[in-house]
Amino acid sequence: MCGIVGYTGKQKAAPFILEGLKRLEYRGYDSAGVAVQEKGGLKLAKKTGRVANLEQEAAKHRLTGTCGIGHTRWATHGGVTDANAHPHVSSDGQIAVVHNGVIENFDSIKKFLLGKGFTFRSETDTEALGNLIAYHYAKEPAANGESRLLNSVRKTLRHVEGTYGIVVLSIDSPGELVCARRGSPLILGLGEGENLVASDVSAIVSRTQSVVYLKDGELARLTPVDFAISTVNEGEIEPVIDQITWSIDAADLGTHTHYMEKEIFEQPAALENAMRGRFSEDGSTAQFGGLNLTPAEFRQVDRFMFCACGTAWHACLVTEHLIERFARVPVEVDYASEFRYRNAPLHPHTLFFVISQSGETIDTLAALREAKRKGYRALAINNVVGSSIAREADGGIYQHVGPEIGVASTKAFTSQLLLGAMMALYIGRMRDMSFSDGLNYVQALKGAPDLVRRVLTQAGHIKAVAARYAGYNDMLFLGRLSLFPIALEGALKLKEISYIHAAGYPAAEMKHGPIAMISERCPSVFFVTKGEMFSKVISSMQEVKARHGRIIAIATEGLELPAGLCDELITIPDCHEAVLPIVATIPVQLLSYYIALERGCDVDKPRNLAKSVTVE
Ligand code: AGP
Repeated sequence: MCGIVGYTGKQKAAPFILEGLKRLEYRGYDSAGVAVQEKGGLKLAKKTGRVANLEQEAAKHRLTGTCGIGHTRWATHGGVTDANAHPHVSSDGQIAVVHNGVIENFDSIKKFLLGKGFTFRSETDTEALGNLIAYHYAKEPAANGESRLLNSVRKTLRHVEGTYGIVVLSIDSPGELVCARRGSPLILGLGEGENLVASDVSAIVSRTQSVVYLKDGELARLTPVDFAISTVNEGEIEPVIDQITWSIDAADLGTHTHYMEKEIFEQPAALENAMRGRFSEDGSTAQFGGLNLTPAEFRQVDRFMFCACGTAWHACLVTEHLIERFARVPVEVDYASEFRYRNAPLHPHTLFFVISQSGETIDTLAALREAKRKGYRALAINNVVGSSIAREADGGIYQHVGPEIGVASTKAFTSQLLLGAMMALYIGRMRDMSFSDGLNYVQALKGAPDLVRRVLTQAGHIKAVAARYAGYNDMLFLGRLSLFPIALEGALKLKEISYIHAAGYPAAEMKHGPIAMISERCPSVFFVTKGEMFSKVISSMQEVKARHGRIIAIATEGLELPAGLCDELITIPDCHEAVLPIVATIPVQLLSYYIALERGCDVDKPRNLAKSVTVE
């Protein structure tokens, strides 16, 4: 949520910052701004809307300085206006700051500063932060051998409640940036004669692959040739330098029109990457390197708790189904945002898991912390290497699917489903799953990428179906067992990118209320597969047809459906239960994508959303 970029070096800062902001736009796109140190003082350009608007605005200001900061905003405090866009400059003109997070005590800070003669131009909490830094800066001795800016930021942060990732510069300290984090990610990029900072590696990976992930409570001071890390309360600490293992190409659109399209079509490769090296030598189970639990310790677990938000929560529901089905161990699933507050009693031998693509979702991070506070071992399934969740979890599994840029999660979701299925196998094989069942299961998972490829060949057909349904305003998604969460996911995907109201239910629940929605104006998407639920789902479809509802069936290849029952048919290959949720997801992703295109929506940057939600 909100993107931050900072640069100090030998080259012009603005072009790099604007380029970085474009890469971070998926984190927030209400407004954007840039501030650069120039010989005559500070130059500032801010504009509501996309970074493209800011680029036009910045061109008018001739930004030539070599040290600057930029921001792309997802509004929390204050509306979407030029004045509320970051960077914010203190009323004495001394300090510029960009901020991601929420300053909870900004009201009392503001009252204090008003009493000291500071003035305010925006409705944001960030401006109070900038003014408070300026207040301390003015009182800080000008030359005592230490950084005046660093000391004033440190003093300020001791009075601040809430969350922040900030980057600050002062007009009279050329080439110096000070950053700090509590609750909002910041990564330093270490270059040759230049140093960088951003809220996400995708903004800096074009310049360097050497990075330092700042931890909560840490500050960093950057100059073109040096950097140092310290804490809010005390002196310097030894940095840990990491290397990013993917290149900028992974975050490029390539031949695709949208990131969402690219990421949907990347799924076969993403699944291959997520499973690589994770099957045992005898081919009968899964193996994970980073769980930090011995098989004996794992064997002691007699209950699992999974927490997440949004799409990742749907992955938890599928994982629950598969672990209970194949390993016969009880699983509980909760929304991370609820779990963190409801003080749920946990069974003593519970193993706690969170699932998060970004690893920065604040509710999921808080749920993880709550479980750890209660003394539970807490693991994570997470995509972004070095994220807050990855660092705070006791162990976990990286998804290894590369950067996911489209706001609507696609490849991250199906890889979470895969890893959930592998977890069910791992636990199942420790318990009662036989060697030969394990072999079959592994073979099925290995075949998943090819099955997904097969479904993707139907993109043209699904596009044609989408064109016929783009005009509706309501839609139901209905499935049973492990496909109920996929019905929820289909509805969420459609809602978030096309703004069509949609809801997902277990198919049999429809008659307990949602059936009231059914008419020729509300179509339904049904998942209908071979097996024990077939005839039950057909009955639910008949109930819809009897009420003149149109039906899009996503059905197993070769199934004989009653004549005239469905208006549209999309087929999926017959497959193992562990793979079915993955395969069934592809048609709803494509359907949502093409419907959103038909409706002229901005699929990669849907209104009001941001890729990772780092505020409550
Ligand atoms: C997915 O399409 C959504 N944009 C959203 O629900 C997302 O899955 C949720 O915010 C959780 O994000 P995370 O996986 O990064 O924690």
